[in-house]
Amino acid sequence: MTTALEKDRVLIFDTTLRDGEQSPGATMTHDEKLEIAGLLDEMGVDIIEAGFPIASEGDFKAVSEIAERSKNAVICGLARANFKDIDRCAEAVRKAAKPRIHTFIGTSPLHRAIPNLTMDEMAERIHDTVTHARNLVDDVQWSPMDATRTEWDYLCRVIEIAIKAGATTINIPDTVGYTAPLESADLIRRLIETVPGADEVIFATHCHNDLGLATANALAAVEGGARQIECTINGLGERAGNTALEEVVMALKVRNDIMPWHTQIDTTKIMHISRRVSTVSGFPVQFNKAIVGKNAFAHESGIHQDGMLKNKETFEIMRPEDVGLSGTSLPLGKHSGRAALRDKLNNLGYEVGDNQLKDIFVRFKELADRKKEVFDDDIIALMRSGEDAENDHLQLVSMKVICGTGGPAEATLEMEIDGKDLSATAQGDGPVDAAFKAVRELYPNSAHLQLYQVHAVTEGTDAQATVSVRLEEDGNIATGQSANTDTVVASAKAYINALNRLIVRRGKVGEGADTREISYKDAT
Ligand code: KIV
Ligand code: ZN
Repeated sequence: MTTALEKDRVLIFDTTLRDGEQSPGATMTHDEKLEIAGLLDEMGVDIIEAGFPIASEGDFKAVSEIAERSKNAVICGLARANFKDIDRCAEAVRKAAKPRIHTFIGTSPLHRAIPNLTMDEMAERIHDTVTHARNLVDDVQWSPMDATRTEWDYLCRVIEIAIKAGATTINIPDTVGYTAPLESADLIRRLIETVPGADEVIFATHCHNDLGLATANALAAVEGGARQIECTINGLGERAGNTALEEVVMALKVRNDIMPWHTQIDTTKIMHISRRVSTVSGFPVQFNKAIVGKNAFAHESGIHQDGMLKNKETFEIMRPEDVGLSGTSLPLGKHSGRAALRDKLNNLGYEVGDNQLKDIFVRFKELADRKKEVFDDDIIALMRSGEDAENDHLQLVSMKVICGTGGPAEATLEMEIDGKDLSATAQGDGPVDAAFKAVRELYPNSAHLQLYQVHAVTEGTDAQATVSVRLEEDGNIATGQSANTDTVVASAKAYINALNRLIVRRGKVGEGADTREISYKDAT
């Protein structure tokens, strides 16, 4: 990567497909990864960390294909500090127009203790692995994992070694979200002032959100001299997540008066990618999440509404259009045709082919028959809902539920399982419990229900419910989603969708080690 960066430019390094996907339950399929990478590339992300190639055959294939397809972005793969990881990573990014290897090792006392390396042994390992990576590609990023808890002298020493060995970007990870803004700025500033050769490379900041400070810490690091921010869409990531791309990008745009740096992100693409990442990862965005939450531009209180009607700037520091939210638009209804639906989908950022439109149109008509007005949020819910894909092992054919005050609820389900039609009736403590039991009778499984969540998509008693179901089985986690005006149908479909995803994950694990099972601490 060029070190001759314009003075006021900050590079955006997106790690949704690596650090984000590592979040338990956020697994994406191969096609979903390709789609997200395409959207990241289109919106102007400078570097896409596409995965961890040694982790599994699936990760390797995803990184290779993203590398081959990328149009503008640098494509980066992650590798631990050993030759085998680095070789595999180099092979995966080989076809990218701009390939990068990102190699790392934990340098803090706690992390050094795990591979049981002395400080000198680790320093030698860093020299050897960065040199090896640099012999394979011109663009090498090196990270001292848990940098913010690494001794100052040692941190300076190992960064100097990495730079001398050929690293072009030095990333400073706050792996456990431990730092605070002033410290974050100060650390980067002092490193740039102290480490010989620091002015020859780009310093990056990689913050986790354990104390809710990831965005503030990343922006502070830029104040200190960092010129690359590592982040994820919706702040997806392990535990409390990573710095959210949309937050740092919009903060730099809206407060450019006091933070005079710019990115090349097309901010009007933010909402669409946020929705897609939420859908494919199965991680709903909290309603009051900055920039992309459902309420981020909603004004409920009387005073706010009054102010907004008189002058939008009273309560809005950015325009909804700036992040890709279309203004209020007319709802569709049962008389709306295919062209109107396609037009609406395009306005919402979805580009669909003729076959996909056909399928969505059928579901749209079903919904419009039940619901007088179909709002933008209903259409988004339709697009999000994990409806049966043709090749799903389990499909819901029909269901009938009896519930009320008179006795236990009862659900009768007909399902197609691997091409066979089966039906079962089960009783339960309420209709959802009965429906889930019927699914288990038809498809016995030991998956443990970790989360069951229902949200109304719009207002009114005829609103669609979106349901998320997260399942865990032998350490594999999968999330399913569905939307329907019938909450019990949405629940059964979300459960079946999660089971289908779990079946895919079982297959994937069979292919080789999984990202979450491979130890980052195992440097060898
Ligand atoms: O948080 C972290 O330290 C990481 C490294 C692999 C860079 O994600
Ligand atoms: Zn991380």
